[in-house]
Amino acid sequence: MKSPKVLYIAMRLLQSAALAALGVAGSAQAQGSDAALIEQGHRLAIAADCAACHTTPKTGAAFAGGYPIVSPLGTIYASNITPSKANGIGDYTLEEFQAALRQGVRKDGAHLYPAMPYTSYTQLSDADTAALYAYFMHGVKAVDQPAPQTSLPFPFNLRSSMAVWNAMFLKDSRFVPDASKSTEVNRGAYLAGALAHCSACHTPRNALMAEDGTKPLGGGSLGPWFAPNISADPNSGIGAWTEAELVQYLKTGRVHGKAQAAGPMAEAIEHSLQYLPDEDLKAIAVYLKQTAAISDGQSKPRFDHGEASASETEMRGRATDVDAGWRIFSGSCAACHQANATGTGNEAYPSLFHNTTTGADRADNLIATILFGVDRTVDGKPHFMPAFGDAASFTDRLGDQEVADVANYVLSHYGNAAVKVSAQDVQTARAGGKAPLLATLQPAIAPALGVVLIVLILLVVRGSRARRKH
Ligand code: HEC
Ligand code: HEC
Ligand code: HEC
Repeated sequence: MKSPKVLYIAMRLLQSAALAALGVAGSAQAQGSDAALIEQGHRLAIAADCAACHTTPKTGAAFAGGYPIVSPLGTIYASNITPSKANGIGDYTLEEFQAALRQGVRKDGAHLYPAMPYTSYTQLSDADTAALYAYFMHGVKAVDQPAPQTSLPFPFNLRSSMAVWNAMFLKDSRFVPDASKSTEVNRGAYLAGALAHCSACHTPRNALMAEDGTKPLGGGSLGPWFAPNISADPNSGIGAWTEAELVQYLKTGRVHGKAQAAGPMAEAIEHSLQYLPDEDLKAIAVYLKQTAAISDGQSKPRFDHGEASASETEMRGRATDVDAGWRIFSGSCAACHQANATGTGNEAYPSLFHNTTTGADRADNLIATILFGVDRTVDGKPHFMPAFGDAASFTDRLGDQEVADVANYVLSHYGNAAVKVSAQDVQTARAGGKAPLLATLQPAIAPALGVVLIVLILLVVRGSRARRKH
């Protein structure tokens, strides 16, 4: 399905390449439309959040790579994707660029690790990949600086092993609109699925770390954080949010009486989603509200738990029988979130009841918020909560048992009282979260392969002896 637009863009690219090769400047008109294509690519790069991984926060030059993605199997460094010929993607052709985005294959033919979300970008249209290419070739400054090399342990150091993984899990096909759905739903599906890669975080992963296709957007672990179920289920997902609330959350990271965004979601909003036009955010919201409901058995929405409680004030002045968590809440949390946890009227500090983080059926995001804080700048305005797990930046550092105590106090008085936190849970979160099965098995893979090899050798030896006897 080649639209005239695709052909037009292809022609423009050929034209500008030819002009560049000849060393002649294009006509004023050609320059104008190239600028439009580059600008379109720029907007797409923001929606796809390429900078999230390819720009090292605060210190790094735009798209020069080097950002360490700490995966359970080891650290994977994002490549330099500036147009540097020596260290970046300056000599990638459009086709090679498309293969990297949609098939996870590098210019030299080696496979990329799926830390690069090509399983989502594979849906990108030809026109959009062409615009992205124009932007990365002509709208980004070349940085001649190599990104650090990734070296994972055996067998994951064999990039060819990803070919097997791709054969099992990469659905190498472009987005196809669903004719039975509205244009807006299809637009939202493309934005959420191909560009903003919501599923890379919000869909659970199987034992081989591929997205579990049976539970789309059903909630997934990200180290110490948990990207909640955002399917249309009214209790387990976001079915009971209004479209306007979803738009507000994606644009600002906060909806009073519902949720705030910290950790990886704060980053997605800060670098990408806040810049999307309102109609795109609305399309994503409309799309989310009609996804298949994935239920994990919740009987009411996460945002509907808890209420204001006077327990903090009641416990003051008691000499004995005070909750260890109360002391910490009183000393470290109440100043901002208020003694009865209602937060502040101006909404700068949120209430801790009617808050998805305290009403969820798992405490990951509560523990992670206390340990790592909130740091999200939207529309030039910072939203900041200190990281109580950080010794370097904060004097009020809390130990594992203290974090567990205050989390349990918050859960039992203001949130989902059925959820309990142990010091061990906090220790695991501090160390980066639970390792998935594959990472747990990794140390055993080489010995296991060795054992298989020895067994095979023994079988061969025995087989040949047996044959010789006859
Ligand atoms: C979630 C993190 C993440 C995001 C988002 C991301 N990338 Fe990547 N990308 C990576 C990592 C990690 C690698 C290197 C993987 C490896 O070494 O196997 C990579 C590699 C690449 C490569 C291969 C370059 C080379 O020769 O090594 C290209 C091209 C690329 N990315 C382009 C993009 C573009 C364009 C976008 C946005 C549309 C994007 N990436 C978004 C993580 C990401
Ligand atoms: C890099 C990982 C990542 C990406 C990409 C991502 N999310 Fe999230 N999302 C999270 C995490 C983690 C949370 C929990 C944040 C918190 O509670 O502070 C979250 C929270 C949310 C929530 C609030 C849910 C609740 O109950 O509090 C919504 C809604 C949401 N995300 C929608 C989206 C949509 C839509 C997209 C794509 C446009 C998206 N997210 C992309 C990680 C991600
Ligand atoms: C200096 C003020 C301050 C202190 C002290 C503070 N917080 Fe916060 N807290 C904030 C701000 C600001 C936010 C985020 C508001 C936003 O996102 O708009 C927040 C958000 C939260 C959230 C929601 C996070 C999410 O992403 O869903 C929880 C839960 C929370 N705080 C718990 C606590 C607990 C428990 C303590 C004590 C250990 C504490 N806070 C101490 C200011 C504070």
